[in-house]
Amino acid sequence: MNQPINKSAQPFSTQNPQKIAIIGCANMGSAIAERLSSHHQIILYDHNPEKATKLVNNAFGTTTTSLEEALEKADIVILAIKPQNLKQSAPSIQEFLKDKHTLISLLTSITLLQLKEFFPISQIVRMMPNTPLLCGEGMIAFCSQEREPFYTKDQLSTLFAPLGKLLWLNENKIDAFTALAGSGPAFIFAMIEAIVESGIAMGFPATEAQAIACQMIKGSAALLESSEKHPAELKWQVTSPGGTTIEGLKTFEDHAVIPKCVQILVFGKEKAPGIKRSKTSPYYNIGSILIA
Ligand SMILES: NC(=O)c1ccc[n+]([C@@H]2O[C@H](COP(=O)([O-])OP(=O)(O)OC[C@H]3O[C@@H](n4cnc5c(N)ncnc54)[C@H](OP(=O)(O)O)[C@@H]3O)[C@@H](O)[C@H]2O)c1
Repeated sequence: MNQPINKSAQPFSTQNPQKIAIIGCANMGSAIAERLSSHHQIILYDHNPEKATKLVNNAFGTTTTSLEEALEKADIVILAIKPQNLKQSAPSIQEFLKDKHTLISLLTSITLLQLKEFFPISQIVRMMPNTPLLCGEGMIAFCSQEREPFYTKDQLSTLFAPLGKLLWLNENKIDAFTALAGSGPAFIFAMIEAIVESGIAMGFPATEAQAIACQMIKGSAALLESSEKHPAELKWQVTSPGGTTIEGLKTFEDHAVIPKCVQILVFGKEKAPGIKRSKTSPYYNIGSILIA
């Protein structure tokens, strides 16, 4: 059994690169490789070797067609395959996974307990990213249960800092986090699309309307973060008496836009695989609001 790493160990840096194998090199695997490759040694493995080769061509790591070799070279193993592929893939991964490895699983809704059943090694961490990690602005949750981990939370936080903001959570919050931050970007992009189309309807070229929408959303988030004011207070700051903004907000209310947003987000958690919903749940039939 490996000894826990000393908490006072040197923080990760380019002088202290870690050896990280990424299993599954599509959306998430490739994004993580891209963000971490300038700091760490990345070994890429995908059962479609051309996906890993494409990343090697972009200098995001090295690759091998041997899973055994990929794991042998690594201390940290990032599992970035789809949850539905786990059962079928686990035996071959387990064959080469050793107790020296720290396994980081991205698999939505596969619990630490389930992961331990597939992979009985000492340190397993769940990681729940979102797509903005592609540009280093991800919101990423982690959870683990080990009392004496090989890698401390601080060390893993330093390691994954190039991906965005990190949050350590109790596992019982991960599905809620996924609903907010995992699905959230899709809702924001849908909203941006609506703003751009409104801009086009009012005579802006699409590129200009999109630039306006992006900066307006970035600026609003930055103001909220820097001002420490409640969102309602900032909303009121924009709302002059009898003006057009209050008319728009009234339309929100008339069409129950905010309660519907809350329902959509909570539905995301309720719908997570493995969550038992009763027919009496207020969110049981919530899908219908999407077409209401
Ligand atoms: N995308 C997101 O926004 C997001 C957000 C949060 C969490 N996640 C989680 O991140 C994980 C990866 O998501 P993704 O969107 O990147 O999935 P993906 O596009 O399906 O990528 C997985 C890659 O792994 C390959 N693969 C499957 N089984 C393998 C095995 N045994 N060995 C090596 N490679 C294997 C797949 O090949 P095939 O295509 O041939 O199967 C594919 O190239 C998922 O568990 C997902 O729940 C994703």
